[in-house]
Amino acid sequence: MIYAANFKTNHTRKSTKNYIEELQTQLHQKKSEDKVYIFPPLTALDSFEGDFTVGAQNAYPVEKGAFTGEVGVEQLSEFGIKTILIGHSERRDTIGESQGEVAKKFAFFKEQGFEIIYCIGESLEVREQGIEAVMEHLVSQFEGIDTTYENFVIAYEPIWAIGTGRSATVEEIVETHNALKKVVDKPLLYGGSVKGANIAEIAAIDNVDGVLVGGASLKTETFLELVLH
Ligand code: PGA
Repeated sequence: MIYAANFKTNHTRKSTKNYIEELQTQLHQKKSEDKVYIFPPLTALDSFEGDFTVGAQNAYPVEKGAFTGEVGVEQLSEFGIKTILIGHSERRDTIGESQGEVAKKFAFFKEQGFEIIYCIGESLEVREQGIEAVMEHLVSQFEGIDTTYENFVIAYEPIWAIGTGRSATVEEIVETHNALKKVVDKPLLYGGSVKGANIAEIAAIDNVDGVLVGGASLKTETFLELVLH
């Protein structure tokens, strides 16, 4: 299983360092085949060492240059960052990244050999139309994406389940993940209100290869509850 912590716009440089140090003292307890990822805010990136991988929540698809306010590969390389989240619904919907921009980012970071955790997910309106509409929407989010890329992990995150406390049901996850695996056979994470109370049933689903976690990842104790469940 993959356990990925997405801090979003939470934690500082100092609190991230404390978090990671605390986490590392407990990670010897995890199963050796399990992998842990941490996505802190960009200002908290550093050359952390331990039984986990640190990635960037976002970056601009350039090596370096005149892109005020952005961070490129040069800045990520300083800390050995080779993993990135692309396509999160907060970037698509709140920040306004189009599928075209997302695809451009994907192509660039693929070219750079990054491991890409690529997020897809539908709104409640689409979910209410049933699985066919959901799949049509999810497949449209692969437009312009090389789904054969070897360093490619998918995170299915229904937007209505993110930060709402209401995870998708086991039946919804089973149905959607089974359908997605037929389209793209890559490691497939579930995200959306994953927490201690539902990790066991979600992790037990066949086509769930891991979880991408926001709220419950913010404290080491609640994240460890997932990793060590
Ligand atoms: P959540 O966020 O766990 O707070 O629902 C998940 C995500 O957006 O990655």
